Amino acid sequence: PLRLDIKRKLTARSDRVKSVDLHPTEPWMLASLYNGSVCVWNHESQVSVRSRPSAMWDPKRGACDECFTVLSWLCWLRKRLICLFVVFQVWQLGSSSPNFTLEGHEKGVNCIDYYSGGDKPYLISGADDRLVKIWDYQNKTCVQTLEGHAQNVSCVSFHPELPIIVTGSEDGTVRIWHSSTYRLESTLNYGMERVWCVCGLRGSNNVALGYDEGSIIIKLGREEPAMSMDTNGKIIWAKHSEVQQANLKAMGEAEIKDGERLPLAVKDMGSCEIYPQTIQHNPNGRFVVVCGDGEYIIYTAMALRNKSFGSAQEFVWAHDSSEYAIRESNSVVKIFKNFKEKKSFKPDFGAEGIYGGFLLGVRSVNGLAFYDWENTELIRRIEIQPKHIFWSDSGELVCIATEESFFILRYLAEKVAASQESNEGVTEDGIEDAFEVQGEIQEIVKTGLWVGDCFIYTSSVNRLNYYVGGEIVTIAHLDRTMYLLGYIPKDDRLYLGDKELNIVSYSLLVSVLEYQTAVMRRDFGMADKVLPTIPKEQRTRVAHFLEKQGFKQQALAVSTDPEHRFELALQLGELKIAYQLAVEAESEQKWKQLAELAISKCQFGLAQECLHHAQDYGGLLLLATASGNVTMVSKLAEGAERDGKNNVAFMTYFLQGK
Ligand SMILES: *[C@@H]1O[C@H](CO)[C@@H](O)[C@H](O)[C@H]1NC(C)=O
Ligand SMILES: *[C@@H]1O[C@H](CO)[C@@H](O)[C@H](O)[C@H]1NC(C)=O
Ligand SMILES: *[C@@H]1O[C@H](CO)[C@@H](O)[C@H](O)[C@H]1NC(C)=O
Ligand SMILES: *[C@@H]1O[C@H](CO)[C@@H](O)[C@H](O)[C@H]1NC(C)=O
Ligand SMILES: *[C@@H]1O[C@H](CO)[C@@H](O)[C@H](O)[C@H]1NC(C)=O
Ligand SMILES: *[C@@H]1O[C@H](CO)[C@@H](O)[C@H](O)[C@H]1NC(C)=O
Repeated sequence: PLRLDIKRKLTARSDRVKSVDLHPTEPWMLASLYNGSVCVWNHESQVSVRSRPSAMWDPKRGACDECFTVLSWLCWLRKRLICLFVVFQVWQLGSSSPNFTLEGHEKGVNCIDYYSGGDKPYLISGADDRLVKIWDYQNKTCVQTLEGHAQNVSCVSFHPELPIIVTGSEDGTVRIWHSSTYRLESTLNYGMERVWCVCGLRGSNNVALGYDEGSIIIKLGREEPAMSMDTNGKIIWAKHSEVQQANLKAMGEAEIKDGERLPLAVKDMGSCEIYPQTIQHNPNGRFVVVCGDGEYIIYTAMALRNKSFGSAQEFVWAHDSSEYAIRESNSVVKIFKNFKEKKSFKPDFGAEGIYGGFLLGVRSVNGLAFYDWENTELIRRIEIQPKHIFWSDSGELVCIATEESFFILRYLAEKVAASQESNEGVTEDGIEDAFEVQGEIQEIVKTGLWVGDCFIYTSSVNRLNYYVGGEIVTIAHLDRTMYLLGYIPKDDRLYLGDKELNIVSYSLLVSVLEYQTAVMRRDFGMADKVLPTIPKEQRTRVAHFLEKQGFKQQALAVSTDPEHRFELALQLGELKIAYQLAVEAESEQKWKQLAELAISKCQFGLAQECLHHAQDYGGLLLLATASGNVTMVSKLAEGAERDGKNNVAFMTYFLQGK
């Protein structure tokens, strides 16, 4: 089975809907109603955008129900016009006789659609005999009859993206059939009475349905494209069942701008026996696994030669490139090494999902359990319902992403080994000290990956961020949903794909990531080595990061921003550096701040100079009188009088008895 997720995205009540269409770029659905109105609904905000009487369709004139539909077909089918009778005929536009006539239905034909995949000369028809027929229009035979609807079939459609046929009927149901096996995958009944129209859209998983009582939009299947990149920049993706490859290296030295579509040459690699819903390279990039229809096939990444296959609900690679696990059912997980089954086991609370990486994660209603790959020994059970789990290469850090937020945990391998040795600190939930929480961030991770100790991710609000040491850095605001493919340190670039299989990239300096990783590991020797490779304009960003981690001295040494350096110098009590910066900046504010610091450090000479620069007579008066310095009081009196600061002048003369 296809195992398509089906989600209802919009329910819009209205008079009878006779035709629906989805806007190619905006999140809009257009519904034309039997009563003569046309409505536009926004399926993201769930509001009606516009509603007005249709100029094209006047029911009072008694035109046939289908004429609106036929008109839109004219646009859709471009050169072909199809007329509907008990038999139906295919016409070349402008021709006076039909190309051919197909006979087979026993009652009136209501609807037809062309196969949009391109490789099959197929037509589909639905009729009042409650049947749906698939035709080969080259040899003019009926290839298949789909039985199941309990009333007149009113609409049929080959989905432009997914391997499915969607049919709607006056029995109130929408049925979803596999377009190759013709198996009934799903029957949907939303209780909106008779179904009149269905519309899919190229490049989208949304399907609009029109009913007697309104319209509905459903989303079918995964949003994420089946796409994967290896560490050398070879990208493999599936377009329908065709597998294609693109190589970043083949782009040459062309200049690349952030967020721009990359001009990649695409190579066909052959077609896949299953409909790929996911594609994933193993860690060393030699193999790819393609999953779909409850099956998996492992291919060589180079030539797409099949290496192994089987049925599985889910497939994950281990950290070790020769190992992987499959979830066979809701209770059995199997581990394979070198394509041979090594172990089959039943996790205690069942297996509703599995996660690969450094440890094998198994999700159940009770939460998440981590097992080691070697002996499938329980390492730790955590009360969490993960969506994704991402392990860093070192296996020291892991991100567990849920529907609401994500957690960064440190895995303490030494403590685990010690506990396994001594059997201390081991409970029925595993080893208590196995993980240490580093942080929780209230953001929803869509896709993610680690570079060193930096976790890079795309969020639900289309931001491209990275997390390091409790800090979030935004790399870019994306204009649409994008999926992370990988990071190539040599290019200093991060690569992402979208569901139309476009690839874009963003610059992200490996030196900055390495530096931040070194700081997180408190390895300042390494940090100092990396620092010279960080361009000057990135230094201040790095300095802010150091400051946040509590390394102000290092931040002061690294920062190139005078304002930031002055702040740091003040905080660190570095009077000389602060003085130098104040001289360069010639800012009263800075002199005042420095004066305060100088006073607190009993550097009265410096304080006096600063207060002079700041023209702070009040401060000077306080300093002069408090220190009992007659010379200073006298000088202040003259200066204040000259500058017209009469209060201070009066006070200082008065104090001197003048
Ligand atoms: C048609 O139906 C829609 C929604 O059900 C309604 O808003 C509109 O006023 C109706 N138009 C006419 C001409 O009755
Ligand atoms: C229909 O016939 C015309 C010529 O009359 C031809 O050009 C066209 O390819 C035919 N279309 C189909 C679908 O057979
Ligand atoms: C017509 O073509 C289909 C494949 O598209 C094939 O399955 C069928 O057997 C053919 N029928 C005839 C009568 O040639
Ligand atoms: C199905 O179509 C027939 C005409 O072929 C019509 O008489 C009948 O009312 C339709 N059924 C429903 C449920 O509307
Ligand atoms: C694997 O390849 C062999 C021949 O190369 C082929 O016979 C077999 O059907 C393939 N199996 C799958 C599942 O791809
Ligand atoms: C008093 O102030 C003057 C300048 O205003 C300065 O030169 C002198 O060193 C100060 N005396 C003392 C004892 O701090």
